[in-house]
Amino acid sequence: MAETVTSPFKTEGSGPIAKSSRILINQIQVLLRTSQIHDIGNVAFDRPVTNLIGALDGLFKTDTEFALRCRGEYLYIDDTRVRYDIEDMVSYELVSSIMKEKKIGSFNFQKPVSQDDLKKFAFALNSFVPPGPNQPEEEFNNILKERGIYSIWAGPLEEAEQIKLDDLADRRKMAKKTYFQAVSVTRGVMNSIKSEQPTHLKKVKRVIQGIVDIILGEEASLLGLTAIKDFDEYTYNHCVNVSILAMTIGQKLGLDKNMLTKLGIAALFHDIGKVDVPIEILNKPASFTEDEWTVVRKHPEMGVKAISKIRGLNELAASSMAVAFEHHIFYDLTGYPVTREKKMPNFFSRIVSISDQYDSMTSARVYARIPYSPDKALSLMMERSGVQLDPLLFKIFANIIGVYPIGTLVMLDTRELGLVFESNPNPEKLDRPKVILITDSSGKRVAGKTVDLSETGQAGGYRRSIIKALDPKKYRINLAEYFL
Ligand SMILES: [Fe+2]
Ligand SMILES: [Fe+2]
Repeated sequence: MAETVTSPFKTEGSGPIAKSSRILINQIQVLLRTSQIHDIGNVAFDRPVTNLIGALDGLFKTDTEFALRCRGEYLYIDDTRVRYDIEDMVSYELVSSIMKEKKIGSFNFQKPVSQDDLKKFAFALNSFVPPGPNQPEEEFNNILKERGIYSIWAGPLEEAEQIKLDDLADRRKMAKKTYFQAVSVTRGVMNSIKSEQPTHLKKVKRVIQGIVDIILGEEASLLGLTAIKDFDEYTYNHCVNVSILAMTIGQKLGLDKNMLTKLGIAALFHDIGKVDVPIEILNKPASFTEDEWTVVRKHPEMGVKAISKIRGLNELAASSMAVAFEHHIFYDLTGYPVTREKKMPNFFSRIVSISDQYDSMTSARVYARIPYSPDKALSLMMERSGVQLDPLLFKIFANIIGVYPIGTLVMLDTRELGLVFESNPNPEKLDRPKVILITDSSGKRVAGKTVDLSETGQAGGYRRSIIKALDPKKYRINLAEYFL
């Protein structure tokens, strides 16, 4: 059975209106693409324009006017959501993303629409740059009128849509701000500990709570920031990254806000013992000597000491000390510091250990002087899962980080759509899995040919690359059809 999506709006099934709606969306996409490559007089316009007029006639049957609307992820004809099959998916995605990009909520069509109107409309839309938040659709309508088009006009993005867009931008900004605040607070804490000054714990708690709020809302923006490793003072960024990664794992585990804050603070302080490691050693561009290693390996114990000096940690002190002490003790109880009594590191420590390994491996400045690519780091860690790393927690982590897990629906740069079928055994090419093609570049369904995305063409470049992953639930795709 294909999956269906519930919606408060009607969904038109297979009647003639539904067919015209799908042709309309499809041909608008073709028209827009044609006007990007051809002059207005080109014969390439004949087909899409004729098809569009046909679709418009079908939709004008019940009224002399209708609107093609974009709401959220869906397209509507008036208030009826247009149902679409896999064949229509590319057009559907492109038309809705163009409307969002141009900040236009609807296109209204009034009978009669001429072939000329349609062509001019396509050129106007392609070159339209929304002027700002104030009624971009009015600006577009002025352009249409200037060009003598009165049968088509644009309507505003619905308010909820507008708020959602603004909100997303605000949330991203907020994430960025919080990230850099966290880095600066960390710098402050480490410096105050180094100079034996009192630590401003309130600031630390506030900034970690800010991160928790973002993670509970939209974790992706912060995770993206942890991937930027090119900072001058890597030590502070490392602490913040490890804290974000740990809290993201915690969030997937369903920890509540309090626990997440506790975990975040413990993770932020995991390397606090490094304030006692001479900066020449920490920033050394070459490998450590045996003596230097001995110094570096003391940072867990020094961390416990440093945390014990921070006043006001209260109930956070115990977990922070445990993490500082245990984050280099592995799941199989090897690692350091070596203790007489062997016991499994605490739950938080095991989470931080994974986050710490990943961030250290993917950055140039901590231990490993040559950074691994994220997927390479992940695959190396996979080998350590169950040995150095808690296998269950690692599985959760790999899922957070994982590039394109099997079954992911992906759009390719060739405009083909495919399903990830088999991951690439080469850990450096995790983003180049094998994919079953399910539509060709025109959106037509094809009979499941498998292609390897690591295949290169004659010029040496990759033949196909993934542009983005799509949510298969949104489309009527039956995975079993391709995988069984
Ligand atoms: Fe460490
Ligand atoms: Fe670390």
